[in-house]
Amino acid sequence: MHETTGTTGTTGKLLAAIAGTGRDAVRGGYSRPVFSTAERELLDWYVGELGRRGLEAQTDRNGIVWAWWNPTGAPPAGAVVTGSHLDSVPGGGAFDGPLGVASALRALDLLRERGIQPARPLGLAVFPEEEGSRFGVACLGSRLLTGAISAERALGLTDPEGNTFADVARAAGLDPAGFGRDDETLARIGTFVELHVEQGRGLVDLDAPVAVASSILGHGRWRFSVHGQGNHAGTTLLADRRDPLLAASRLVVAVREVAAAHPGTRATVGRFQPVPGGTNVIASRVDLWLDVRHPHDAVTAAVVAEISRRAQELAADEGCTVQVREESLSPTVDFDPALARRLTTALGGVPNLPTGAGHDAGVLAERVPTAMLFTRNPTGVSHSPEEFCTDEDAELGSVALADVLADLLTGHSCGTPPG
Ligand code: GLV
Ligand code: MN
Ligand code: MN
Repeated sequence: MHETTGTTGTTGKLLAAIAGTGRDAVRGGYSRPVFSTAERELLDWYVGELGRRGLEAQTDRNGIVWAWWNPTGAPPAGAVVTGSHLDSVPGGGAFDGPLGVASALRALDLLRERGIQPARPLGLAVFPEEEGSRFGVACLGSRLLTGAISAERALGLTDPEGNTFADVARAAGLDPAGFGRDDETLARIGTFVELHVEQGRGLVDLDAPVAVASSILGHGRWRFSVHGQGNHAGTTLLADRRDPLLAASRLVVAVREVAAAHPGTRATVGRFQPVPGGTNVIASRVDLWLDVRHPHDAVTAAVVAEISRRAQELAADEGCTVQVREESLSPTVDFDPALARRLTTALGGVPNLPTGAGHDAGVLAERVPTAMLFTRNPTGVSHSPEEFCTDEDAELGSVALADVLADLLTGHSCGTPPG
């Protein structure tokens, strides 16, 4: 069979082609929310790159975009799959997600250049709404695929403008009736490997370009809605106010205090929204979102319980009320140790690092043997325009990905799905 092997140069060159897409002139960096024009343009670029390689993009019923390289016509089950995401947080960096997507394309080029004859198919995957920055629940595509979230709940999620996931997905050409757990697609994945830019300083401190992931911190998101009385800034005496913004602001301070009292906790309020939000208006409500992460899920639960208790007290002090809603919760993930060892050996003994960031790989790890590679980020900063990866390291990451894919595609198949 003739294979199309059009290559495009380095990982850095692939990323350079999308460097202008989704730039955010107001926040800085990139804003590429799922199903936005920017994210769809990235997807068009990706589909074009697949086409240049003779691969066809297939969007599954959960909006995950797949492509398969299977030159030997091996049976579809037990594939080795790699990929990441193209959506971003608001004002995010260029590499969180796109580096894994570009590295997957580049690794395929390298496998072909090396003349690798895979014993099993290689799948390339792009997952929608990994960040959860539009509909609130991170890793929505992989959660739908595995059944970690029900279709019913996902379809009812709303974006900041009040559009439902169902309506936005429909407008993007997907059929809301098709969303939900997809065991047939899942059964095709024998092993999943996601390459990602490192989101901390681990590799900088170790002076190494690439690591294998050991674990992902357990994490969750909670929405606090503090209700008070909307009123006039000029005519309402201080004594007469029930200002939810006061209670919510004190709550932000309490979040830090509670986190500090539980070592190892990371707790963040990164989104804080007074309603209606006018300079001369006492807010009637404040919504704020709490992100808590800890290696021990019981500590996460205790921290959130304590913060919720403080929220009730602080709201009551100001004559307000508060509602707390869990939006998502992901337990700590320890990646398949045998698979991590295999990758580490294939790469000649690279470091193993934990991460505090969530990934589709963490969701898939519940169902299939899963691993991650990290590529050095010289700033150690992520979810920010300062996130970075040099062209040299991006290429080293792709070479490492090609090395582990070559091993997984040609060696013995890896492990059995987790119980
Ligand atoms: C996603 O990057 C997250 O860790 O929230
Ligand atoms: Mn990511
Ligand atoms: Mn991210």
